[in-house]
Amino acid sequence: MKSIYLDHAASTPVHPEVAEAMLKVMTEQYGNASSVHRFGRIAKRVVNGARDIIAAQLNCRPEEIVFTSGGTESDNLALFGIASAYKDKGKHIITTAIEHHAVLHTCEELEKQGFKVTYLPVDRFGQVNPEHVREAIADDTILISVMYANNEVGTIQPIREIGEIAREHGIPFHVDAVQALGSIDISLSDLPVDLMSFSAHKINGPQGVGALYIRRKLLIHPLLHGGLQEKKRRAGTENMAGVTGFAKAMEIAKARLGDKIASDRKLRETFIRSLEQHVGKERFVINGHPTDHLEHIVNVSFPETNTETLLMNLDMEGIAAASGSACTSGSLELSHVLEAMKLPEELLNSAVRFSFGLGNTTEDMEYTAQKVETILQRLRNRS
Ligand SMILES: Cc1ncc(COP(=O)(O)O)c(C=O)c1O
Repeated sequence: MKSIYLDHAASTPVHPEVAEAMLKVMTEQYGNASSVHRFGRIAKRVVNGARDIIAAQLNCRPEEIVFTSGGTESDNLALFGIASAYKDKGKHIITTAIEHHAVLHTCEELEKQGFKVTYLPVDRFGQVNPEHVREAIADDTILISVMYANNEVGTIQPIREIGEIAREHGIPFHVDAVQALGSIDISLSDLPVDLMSFSAHKINGPQGVGALYIRRKLLIHPLLHGGLQEKKRRAGTENMAGVTGFAKAMEIAKARLGDKIASDRKLRETFIRSLEQHVGKERFVINGHPTDHLEHIVNVSFPETNTETLLMNLDMEGIAAASGSACTSGSLELSHVLEAMKLPEELLNSAVRFSFGLGNTTEDMEYTAQKVETILQRLRNRS
């Protein structure tokens, strides 16, 4: 049986050059970057070397990059860290209804602590209107948090416009760019953004490592307390091999960006064309923005069936796809993103996310479309 992985938005295969760079560090270096002896100095050089590479790719200063354990921790540090640092100035936060749970559940926790959170709506394509951000701003607003691109439907948000509004009002602006990294050219020196979250495992790097960009001079309180690492913003011995892999993955992603976008677009177009051919145009609906979208995510509803049945049958055929966000798949609750887009019930209940990247071919996409049709036919015959 074929095995086709179409869940790159959940996690990606590690690039061989990334694994090689990490193995070298793991087998040759074992000092603690905080130690004063030679081994420690080498470890520090490795960690700061990775930081320099990542900062250069993102066009920011090395000291503006804080290493974390991944996207979830970066989001938590941004939200709790700003809320704590600015609580005497105000207790209002603006975010959107379609954020990842790493932001949404953090906001819920902040609400329990007495903060007030505005969850902005989106249009039917999953896009936020910058004017809604402007209207939501109050005297006590201390943070705006909007994701760069959505992980379930791939819709890209008007980050620049929202950032300019945040700047006009002097409010810190956080962007969860976990899903955008590697698919959009991000240059932090040109963007009106104060905090940005990243994760290595979405760009063919290792799991369990990420970063939070914190603009110079922005006040933030740490989430973790302990040592003085990361300029007192994130205590804990640095993940030397992890950050090395992250830096290598960033270098490769930046060098391949144009090729990746073109290749993902081709995979996407092949898939949609094959679905039209095999399944039929009238039997599926693509969810998300028609033009402002990541190329590597296609969210499709097949109204004649339901998400769980389709995912199980695809899995039996060796095809791995997903329902909504990786962290909630398995429990198959309704997608908060599709609900916020106000999709009709039959589309809400039958949406599947196909996401692709390194290692996928146009044949994979054609094969998957054919298998979708085989499954739908089988289900039709059964009913
Ligand atoms: C948009 C977004 N933010 C945050 C996360 C969490 O990142 P991590 O898995 O590195 O904790 C994810 C992962 O799916 C994501 O897609």
